Amino acid sequence: MIDSYKSLIRQGLSKKRYQHSIYVADECKKIAKKYGANVEDAYIAGLLHDAKKDVPPDELKLMVINSNIEAEEIELDTPQLWHAIASCQFARDELGISNIDILNAIRYHTVARPNMSLLEKIVYLGDISSADRTYNDVGKVRRLIYSNLDSAMLYVLKFVISNLLSHKGQVPSTTIQAYNHYLSVNKAQNLT
Ligand SMILES: [Fe+2]
Ligand SMILES: [Fe+2]
Repeated sequence: MIDSYKSLIRQGLSKKRYQHSIYVADECKKIAKKYGANVEDAYIAGLLHDAKKDVPPDELKLMVINSNIEAEEIELDTPQLWHAIASCQFARDELGISNIDILNAIRYHTVARPNMSLLEKIVYLGDISSADRTYNDVGKVRRLIYSNLDSAMLYVLKFVISNLLSHKGQVPSTTIQAYNHYLSVNKAQNLT
């Protein structure tokens, strides 16, 4: 199954993006092992999370509209976010994946949401910490991921939101809600 998914996504992705997908899948598998999640589900969700990222914007927008997957206004106004919905739709309708946790992990890997499942957090964090990531803080993010997933979520959401603010980008309300959620989770666990 995994090999056929690989050859299917490979056709639609640049070499670099395909390699990123493999790195993310590997990372998701590692994090899943550490936290006792289903390793195969984590690998599949990681592998497919960006499956439609190289589709041209016009086509992508159509996929989003036809998917019937709910999205807020800001998400529909932000082309960089469309691939998460389109990749989820592809996994559901083209690959026949019915595991809702895998589908949601793909769908929310860009915008996040409050109270994410273990698999959703694994894919969100696996994407930002995969072997091909080279930003300044990546070492710290990786350490946090292996010490506590909820503190890693808070740290990354803070990073993502401040980045959006400094580039005058709109912040989806689901992302703000996720930040508020993980802030209180961290406070309740005395992690901040
Ligand atoms: Fe993505
Ligand atoms: Fe990605």
